[in-house]
Amino acid sequence: MAKFDENARPFSEQWLDDRLGVRTLNRVMATEYWIPKNINFLWAMGMILAVVFGFLLISGIFLTMYYKPDVNLAFDSVNYTIMQEVGYGWLFRHIHGVAASVVFLLIYIHMFTGIYYGSYKQGREMIWISGMLLFVTFSAEAFSGYMLPWGQMSYWAGMVITNLFSMGSLELNGVVEWIRGDYVPGDAYLTRFFMLHVFLLPLAIIGVIVLHFGSLRIPHVNNQEGEIIDFDEEAAKYLAGNTKEAKVIRFQWDFLSKDFMVMAFFLFFFFYLVFYHFNFAMDPVNFDMANGLKTPAHIYPEWYFLWSYEILRPFSKDVGLMAFGFSQVIFMLLPFLDRSPNAIPAHRRGLFFIWFWILLLDLIVLSVMGKVPPSGMFSTIGLIAAWVFLLLWPALVAITSFEKKEIK
Ligand code: HEM
Repeated sequence: MAKFDENARPFSEQWLDDRLGVRTLNRVMATEYWIPKNINFLWAMGMILAVVFGFLLISGIFLTMYYKPDVNLAFDSVNYTIMQEVGYGWLFRHIHGVAASVVFLLIYIHMFTGIYYGSYKQGREMIWISGMLLFVTFSAEAFSGYMLPWGQMSYWAGMVITNLFSMGSLELNGVVEWIRGDYVPGDAYLTRFFMLHVFLLPLAIIGVIVLHFGSLRIPHVNNQEGEIIDFDEEAAKYLAGNTKEAKVIRFQWDFLSKDFMVMAFFLFFFFYLVFYHFNFAMDPVNFDMANGLKTPAHIYPEWYFLWSYEILRPFSKDVGLMAFGFSQVIFMLLPFLDRSPNAIPAHRRGLFFIWFWILLLDLIVLSVMGKVPPSGMFSTIGLIAAWVFLLLWPALVAITSFEKKEIK
């Protein structure tokens, strides 16, 4: 019987390896990319995010085949052609809509896992920064996509958000017109947002995902105890056959097989939403065609932007704009505001643990208040929650400076 040769590779792989080094790349990025053993299901979110991005790309390509970026045709091309005439058009639209919403839920879980375990420290700053760039590009991608069905909420949310570029009292109306290509959102506006949505932003997202994955390679992922692992030493143990003793596993297929398990649960949840609850991802107001002469009673963004919208709303125009700008950049600076040197979990960090939960609850309160009309008690709660958000950041510097001294 022929002896099994584990190094035997198909001819095509050999051919590609001699020319492109594909085997080396696969070894460096996958089979000998080491992942700590003591991590939990939350570490599967990154790969699930990558899969959901794949769903968005594939369903988006099919939708682009029938969508018409023209103010007179866009609404019908989505609500009539795609939903009723094209075979399985409804399925691609539901997948695209649900994935666009769920991707933010996953991003928030992934971000808050990073915050809880301090995974933006000890050489992991670039992972965090590239992650936040993904958050920004995904936000722009979601906003530009929301314009495309040319419904009432597309039009009016587009109006409100582009108005922000007038910079309050500075009244830079020329900038707003330049962005819109007109005085109000119209044909020029729709076609440029179409270009951004189907070309420029997906390209940027793919570039930043490559950066995000690349930035994971040297520091490796953190673990749930914040243990500092000597990856070279542990990998050597694993390669020598002491797989039980080693504190690490291979990315491919050890870690991936665990990811697939979590992904299977996620896919049940995802397709359940696609087939039975897709409406949660579609605002009823957007089933009326855009009408520049009829302002909806209450304008609000999708759920994932509500918290930042509520930071803008309760203050006067200029202060609100500054608070909003602050909320957009402050998360990016987290690795430098958290002064504590150790990447340990929040439940072992005393005051930071309380800080973490206040931040999370505050974002939920802001999101709820962002959805309801800004009057009476709701405005007061929104204002308090916005102040709490703003004050949490100097509090973080103070708490973690204190923690740093204690560690010394
Ligand atoms: C589509 C968007 C994203 C994709 C595909 C993605 C993918 C990944 C993957 C595969 C990992 C390694 C496994 C894991 O820890 O889950 C990872 C880790 C990480 N990501 Fe993302 N990510 C995305 C967005 C973000 C965002 C928005 C942030 C927040 C700033 C972020 C911050 C991090 C951090 C801090 C780690 C390291 C975790 C650790 O060391 O334990 N990522 N990401």
